Order: sequence, then C-alpha cells, then structure tokens
Amino acid sequence: MLPLTLLCLLQAILGVLAQQTPIQLSLNNLYNFTVSTPTSNSRLFNLPLSRSNDLSVSVALCANPGTSSPRFFVTNDTSVPDPGPNDLDNPNVFELDVGSEGFASWTGSMPDGGVLAVSGAGQVPYEVGVSDEGPIHAVWDDYPLLGDSTSNQVLLFSPPFSPFNITQPTYPNYTLPPAELSFPQGPGSPPNYTLYFTPTSNPTLASIPRTSCALRALDGPEDFNEGAAESQGLWLRDTSGWRWQWLVNGLTPLTNYTVFALNGSQVSNPVNFITKSAAFSCPIVHSLPYCPSTAYAVPIAAPQRPATAHDTTTLPSNISTPLFEVLTNFTTSLLTFPCGRDQYSPLVTCADCQEAYRRWLCSIWFPRCSEASPTSTSTEDSTNQQPISALQAQPTSAPSRSPGLPPFSAAFDVLLPCVETCTAVDRACPNALGFKCPVPRFNANSSYGIGFIDSGQDGVQGKGSTGVAQDIWGNVWCNLG
Ligand SMILES: *[C@@H]1O[C@H](CO)[C@@H](O)[C@H](O)[C@H]1NC(C)=O
Ligand SMILES: *[C@@H]1O[C@H](CO)[C@@H](O)[C@H](O)[C@H]1NC(C)=O
Ligand SMILES: *[C@@H]1O[C@H](CO)[C@@H](O)[C@H](O)[C@H]1NC(C)=O
Ligand SMILES: *[C@@H]1O[C@H](CO)[C@@H](O)[C@H](O)[C@H]1NC(C)=O
Ligand SMILES: *[C@@H]1O[C@H](CO)[C@@H](O)[C@H](O)[C@H]1NC(C)=O
Ligand SMILES: *[C@@H]1O[C@H](CO)[C@@H](O)[C@H](O)[C@H]1NC(C)=O
Ligand SMILES: *[C@@H]1O[C@H](CO)[C@@H](O)[C@H](O)[C@H]1NC(C)=O
Ligand SMILES: *[C@@H]1O[C@H](CO)[C@@H](O)[C@H](O)[C@H]1NC(C)=O
Ligand SMILES: *[C@@H]1O[C@H](CO)[C@@H](O)[C@H](O)[C@H]1NC(C)=O
Ligand SMILES: *[C@@H]1O[C@H](CO)[C@@H](O)[C@H](O)[C@H]1NC(C)=O
Repeated sequence: MLPLTLLCLLQAILGVLAQQTPIQLSLNNLYNFTVSTPTSNSRLFNLPLSRSNDLSVSVALCANPGTSSPRFFVTNDTSVPDPGPNDLDNPNVFELDVGSEGFASWTGSMPDGGVLAVSGAGQVPYEVGVSDEGPIHAVWDDYPLLGDSTSNQVLLFSPPFSPFNITQPTYPNYTLPPAELSFPQGPGSPPNYTLYFTPTSNPTLASIPRTSCALRALDGPEDFNEGAAESQGLWLRDTSGWRWQWLVNGLTPLTNYTVFALNGSQVSNPVNFITKSAAFSCPIVHSLPYCPSTAYAVPIAAPQRPATAHDTTTLPSNISTPLFEVLTNFTTSLLTFPCGRDQYSPLVTCADCQEAYRRWLCSIWFPRCSEASPTSTSTEDSTNQQPISALQAQPTSAPSRSPGLPPFSAAFDVLLPCVETCTAVDRACPNALGFKCPVPRFNANSSYGIGFIDSGQDGVQGKGSTGVAQDIWGNVWCNLG
C-alpha cells in the first residue's frame, strides 16, 4: 500500500496531467470513460470542428452516480480552455444536465472547435459521443411489443423497422397470395437491436440511468439481456414493418417485468408484461408465416422437448392443412368478384379483404389462453373503473372453441378475439361474400371482446373503453389476432 499522502500526490499529478493533455474526440464515435479526476480538476476533451453541419455533443452516465453526479460543460468559444460552472455567464458555454434520465446533449455550430469538460468525484463510468448527424444519445420514441407470456416464458418483439406495403395485384392477372403464405425477403442489413428486461420490482432498475450503457451492463440473476443473436430472427408481423422476435425462457411466474429495446446507444420507451401463474399450461404458438400475427399461448398439447413453444416445425399438419383449405376456398369465392377491374369500395381491395380474413381466421383457429391479471382480480372495489379483459372460462367438458383444434386436456380461460378483428373483415370484403359479424345486442360478447377498441355501438369506430387490444402496462384486453 502506498502511504495516503503519496497517493493523493499521485492523484493530483494525474489530475493535472489529465487537464494538460485533453483527449481529442473524433466525429461519429462513441467513447467510454470513468470519472476519476479529483473534484477540483476537470477532464478535458477537444471537440472536432464541424464547418458545414451543426455538431452534437452527447453524454450518458453508465451507472448510478449516487450523490456525486459528474457535471458536463461544453463550449464552442476557443478562448475558454476549461469550461465550468463559473463560465455559465458566457453565452457560448453550456451545461449538459444529465438529469434523472442520465443523458443529455448539445447541438450547435462549432466552426473553430471547442472543449468538453467533465468534472466530478467518484467512479462513475460514462459515454461521450460527438456527431454531425444529430445526438448519438437521443430519445428513441418507440416501444417493444409483447407477443404473450406463459408462466416462465415470454415472446417479445422489437419496435418495427423497414415498413412493408402489401403489393396490390392488378387486373387482368389478379393473383392473391396462396393460403400457405411464404415470407418475402427480409431487409439486408437490419439494425442491431438488443432487448433488456428485468422484474419491475428490481431495485436496481429504479436507481440506474435510462441509458443503453447502464442497462447493458446489468447482468444480475434476474436481468435478461438478449442481443439480436439470441433472437428467433426477423419477423414481419404486420405492415408496421420487420421486427426482431425473442422467445425467452427462465422467467418467474406471476411477475411484472419491465422491457426496453436498445439500438446502439438509444433506449426505447419501456413496456411491462406479466407472467402467468405456475398452473398455466397453454404453450406459445409463433412464427407461422401463414398466420403472421399469431404469437400467443394456445390451448394445444405442448411440443416435444427440447422445443418449448410451437412453430411450423412442431405444429401438427392436421392443424394447418385444414386451415389452408378454408383460406383457399375463401380466396376462390373472393376471386369470383372481378377484383382489380371493378371496385366494391373506394378504400379497400380484394387483397385487403384476404388479409383481414386471414387474420380473423387465424384468431378463430388458434384461440388464445390467458388469465386475469393479478391487479384486476380485486374488482370488489366499486370505485375501480378498470375494464375487465374478455376472458371466458373453458372447462374440460366444453367443446373445442376452434374448428381446427382438438379439445384441450386442461381447463383454461380463453381470451376472446376483439370484435374489431371481425368487423375489419366485414369492412374490407365485398358484401356479396356474405361475411357477417354478430351484433352486440345479440350475445356477441359470448364470442368476441366487445367495447374495448370501438364503442360497441353499431357503426361507431373508436371510443372503446381501452382504445387498444393491449396496453404498454401489460394488460391484454382482447385478442386482436
Ligand atoms: C470501454 O469499454 C470497453 C468495452 O466494454 C472496455 O473494455 C474498456 O475498458 C472501457 N474503457 C473505459 C475507459 O472505461
Ligand atoms: C456557439 O453556439 C451557439 C449556440 O448554437 C451559437 O449561437 C454561437 O454562434 C456559436 N459560436 C460560434 C463561434 O459559432
Ligand atoms: C409504402 O407506401 C407508402 C405510402 O404509399 C410509401 O410512402 C412508402 O414509400 C412505401 N414503402 C415501401 C417500403 O414501399
Ligand atoms: C401473374 O402474377 C403472378 C404473381 O404476380 C406471376 O407469378 C405470374 O407469372 C403472372 N402471370 C401472368 C400470365 O402474367
Ligand atoms: C450487436 O450489438 C451487440 C451489443 O451491442 C454487439 O455485441 C454485437 O457485436 C453487435 N453485432 C453486430 C453484428 O454488429
Ligand atoms: C438504430 O441505429 C442505427 C445505427 O446507429 C440508425 O441508423 C437507426 O436510425 C437507428 N434506428 C432507430 C429507429 O433509431
Ligand atoms: C373447399 O371447397 C371444396 C370444393 O368446393 C369442398 O369440397 C371442401 O369441402 C371445402 N372445404 C372447406 C373446409 O370448406
Ligand atoms: C391430429 O392428429 C393427432 C394424432 O395423429 C390427433 O391426436 C389429433 O386429434 C389430430 N387433430 C385433429 C385436429 O384432427
Ligand atoms: C353480454 O351482454 C349481455 C347483454 O348485452 C349482458 O347481459 C351480459 O352480462 C354480457 N356478458 C358478459 C360476459 O359480459
Ligand atoms: C406492472 O407494473 C407497472 C409499474 O408498477 C404497473 O403500472 C402496471 O400496471 C403493472 N402491470 C400489470 C399488468 O399489473
């Protein structure tokens, strides 16, 4: 051990050295450092000049700074060599206040270069990025998406990218996609997203900054950090675009989790999901190209180990083949209409009709198992105006709800399809097909979730009680398919 005085002297010298030799930062790079200077000195960084574009300087804390958060000052005034709190009356000295989120940025002109100064005690790791294409640490205003959970698994999707438009066939060669749909070619170089989640009650979550470097560094027993390499690959769930899809095992039953998606140094908004009780026995079905948005627990026998969920490789063909037949027959009837030559609506086409029908059929073919969320079971409180999910008990004596699945061996609660999945078909298809949805006053609530997205009154769109089929807090109201 060095004597304390010598150690202090060394630190002082190192501090002075750090101050005397600023580190040159280059454009469009991310740097990581640890605050290690004594309080009296700042660590200095020379900023590159940027003549044509504005320069963005951003900083992010990578751990909880405790009581001694470092401070960051930037200047584009070359006569200020070491900007600090005492220079804030200079109009060209700016403080990057990382606040509770743990990151901040400044964007402005830097024709002659400038300096970033970091001061503070403690050992907080942080990142610095300088870019002429906007701040490297910035808000990513998007959300991951929950597919579904079981007692110990979850299926999650990243926010979408590369939006996809369905190609409209044209007359006279009006060809609709086959029932056994295959996927189009995915994007060539997809962004490298990572997923991070942990129990909402994890105390670390409350204390760390909302930054990518802080979240990525968490690797406690309850932290899940899943890179693109750990995903199930890319999935085109709907026209919002391609997403990464993750199926993750090893979760705890009846637990509320908080999920973030990370894109490099950007962090998405969080979403919550809850796992089911230990008794929940329906496996997840996912990655069926012919039912692209089926990604939830289904009352069907579990797949053979080692598979922990069903996809096309484990789903019995006596379930998919009849579905193809129904869809093919529907398409044949649809094509008796002169699609592409005559219009039955100014808004929708036969291709839209087939797509809406496919989604509806998949939601009927693959019923969804669910459970009441633990928070909504205490509805005796009459002031609690929280809506209740469209659940219906299915005893083992009940016949199968699906035209395509044998009866399930255990009792479960079915989460009814949202009626909007049905009305979407009604709206998108020619009247002549005779597709009809039940109307609310005649018991429609025994087959559909009514009043969540649309109000449930005839012809009214919107104004439902939740506005959505599932929300970002982990509540799932009805099955949108
Ligand atoms: C920066 O990050 C890399 C990789 O995570 C690590 O090896 C390196 O030690 C870090 N550097 C500093 C100065 O913290
Ligand atoms: C420094 O940045 C501020 C804010 O963007 C700007 O008003 C000022 O002109 C800049 N100074 C120089 C020397 O470019
Ligand atoms: C999809 O359609 C929209 C609107 O018609 C268009 O702006 C967009 O470029 C299209 N995207 C692709 C990937 O074709
Ligand atoms: C009709 O369209 C389909 C798919 O777009 C294409 O594969 C087929 O070759 C076309 N047939 C004719 C006769 O153009
Ligand atoms: C994707 O990101 C992860 C985490 O940042 C990194 O470890 C991995 O090397 C990246 N992969 C590619 C192909 O860039
Ligand atoms: C994700 O990161 C890449 C590379 O930094 C960037 O080009 C892309 O715009 C980012 N995507 C989003 C949605 O921010
Ligand atoms: C499909 O159409 C064929 C021929 O019309 C018919 O034999 C078959 O029963 C239909 N299948 C279904 C599931 O409707
Ligand atoms: C599919 O076949 C399996 C065994 O081969 C049988 O147990 C199951 O009932 C069949 N499913 C349907 C929907 O006919
Ligand atoms: C279904 O609707 C009827 C009448 O509209 C109502 O009496 C009944 O309670 C509803 N059932 C459920 C499960 O909400
Ligand atoms: C999960 O936890 C969050 C934060 O406490 C809460 O807002 C949300 O309602 C919970 N979700 C469910 C489904 O209970």
